[in-house]
Amino acid sequence: MSILELQNVEKIYGEKENQVHALQNINLQVEEGEFAAIVGTSGSGKSTLLNLIGGLDYPTKGKIFVKNREIGSLPRKKLTIFRRRNIGFVFQNYSLMPVLNVYDNVALPVTFDRGKHINRKYIEELLRELGVWEKRTKYPSELSGGQQQRVAIARALVNKP
Ligand SMILES: Nc1ncnc2c1ncn2[C@@H]1O[C@H](COP(=O)(O)OP(=O)(O)OP(=O)(O)O)[C@@H](O)[C@H]1O
Ligand SMILES: [Mg+2]
Repeated sequence: MSILELQNVEKIYGEKENQVHALQNINLQVEEGEFAAIVGTSGSGKSTLLNLIGGLDYPTKGKIFVKNREIGSLPRKKLTIFRRRNIGFVFQNYSLMPVLNVYDNVALPVTFDRGKHINRKYIEELLRELGVWEKRTKYPSELSGGQQQRVAIARALVNKP
């Protein structure tokens, strides 16, 4: 089986007359090591699709397999742990924690995972590679949009997902 597989996935937001069919009958396979880009007009369902693949939301119908695990059948707590250990996610609005500096934002997924030690050398490598090491003690509000985006990328990679 592929590392990621979607079978007849559907996502409906809202109820009755407010219903939005954001995704209909989505089938998709991505192999390990493959890069995939999802392209579409604004409102076409890209974020909806990524939220489902990333285990941030549940599909209305269909199945999503990540590493042979059907994530739609995992209860919320288990899904959170699975997500933290296996998924790296950069949000459209970056979603950095405003009260934490750059370094602590990047370390956050590790600090949440009790029992895991913080690999300071790897965090430094990531921040240097992404050009924000000099900003490590700054807060998100002190960064440009692109810098915030790169910090969000570092945070998404810190657990080697
Ligand atoms: N929480 C929600 N409740 C109701 N409708 C929603 C919700 N989130 C998204 N939608 C609707 O679902 C559709 C898909 O939205 P989505 O955010 O997935 O689009 P997108 O492709 O990411 O767009 P963009 O390129 O603008 O980011 C849109 O019609 C949107 O209005
Ligand atoms: Mg979007």
